[in-house]
Amino acid sequence: MAATTPAPSPTDAISYDDLYARWERGNWRATEIDFTQDAVDWREKLTDEQRRSALWLYTLFFHGEDSVADNLSPYVDAAPLEEQKYFLTTQQVDEARHSVFFHRFMREVVGVGGTDVASTLRATAPEITWGHRMVFSRLDRMADELRADRSKRQLAAAVTLYHVVVEASLAQPGQHMIERYLEEYDLLPGFRSGMRNVALDEQRHIGFGVKLLADLYKEDPGPVQDAIVGVLRETLPWTALVAKPPAWDDTYTTCFGFTLDDLGEEGARSLEQKLRAIGLPVDDLPGFPMDMSISPRERARRGMKLARCGFFGPEGPVVRDPEAIEILFDSMARTADPSAVRPGTTIQWDFTDHEAWHLVLDGRASAHRGPAASPDLRLRVSLDDFVDVTADRADPLRLVLRGRLRPRGDLRVLARMPRVFPG
Ligand SMILES: [Fe+2]
Ligand SMILES: [Fe+2]
Repeated sequence: MAATTPAPSPTDAISYDDLYARWERGNWRATEIDFTQDAVDWREKLTDEQRRSALWLYTLFFHGEDSVADNLSPYVDAAPLEEQKYFLTTQQVDEARHSVFFHRFMREVVGVGGTDVASTLRATAPEITWGHRMVFSRLDRMADELRADRSKRQLAAAVTLYHVVVEASLAQPGQHMIERYLEEYDLLPGFRSGMRNVALDEQRHIGFGVKLLADLYKEDPGPVQDAIVGVLRETLPWTALVAKPPAWDDTYTTCFGFTLDDLGEEGARSLEQKLRAIGLPVDDLPGFPMDMSISPRERARRGMKLARCGFFGPEGPVVRDPEAIEILFDSMARTADPSAVRPGTTIQWDFTDHEAWHLVLDGRASAHRGPAASPDLRLRVSLDDFVDVTADRADPLRLVLRGRLRPRGDLRVLARMPRVFPG
């Protein structure tokens, strides 16, 4: 029998040496960008609304760049190959340069902050969103975890968060949206040239992250897959709220020609491309938090729907939107682990203030509107309390003790719920 050769993967064409060489060729100077015309444009061409929105949006980038510059060192230590370590040191220089670039823009064009980076970070901090804080505080903790554990599995988790979630699905789509508008209206030429270089750098960083994850995945598919899926499950709900404008005021992005759904679509498409390039079988992956049978735009729209209805984030109350509830149950079914209970087990939520829903845990879990014929476990709870639990805002045990979550039926199923719905 002839041996089958595995199909060449898209990352085979990328080499660490080539990524390094591209860094040498692509070097640029953040300290030499001329912001003279930008300062004029800022005062005279931008509207009040655009100035307010640009300060908000660019602050998210400035703080993000500062965080990634600070957090990359343990990645250098944990990378197994010298060529990977060398590339990561070039990336760390890039991230520092990006932070210097945004700091200069804030000071010299916007006129906020002081001479040192820390004071400008402090001056802009009130603009930071909850989603941004969640993602980047996780990046801080991830760096600590990688310092303590340099295993390949831990490195895969760390690179997933840094290169795939932060760079490929959040930063790069935002940079493209910002650049497109400024190009079209010929605004802020210094900022634009810097952003172009930042985006080229990011492309290299993302290429590296995807290559590294593809290599790790080939070596040890099971644990690396678990690491990647684990990070996505943990962080995706936060990403929908990173660019949440104050009071969901859409003009924060529409005044620059894009909507949050546009941004989310770019992020979802980019994320899908990177995961496929790594070699992950995303269409059929147990516990995978995204529905790959729908378009990236629809995936993004559903995520935004949950975010806007208060199903993610720091606080309720939830908006009683039937579509949002359906999306939530669908995603619970998608990420549930039915092997933790007897096949065919049915859990029903008897909402005190909404129609019931139930999940059937059979091979692949499925979600259904309305009551089941004979549920094994029934949970009587208000919709707000239930969503507080799924959004990590409430402890289910405390709700039981306070009588706000009343289980009935097979309590062995109740005891197994943490295994059915991990994380
Ligand atoms: Fe960067
Ligand atoms: Fe980067």
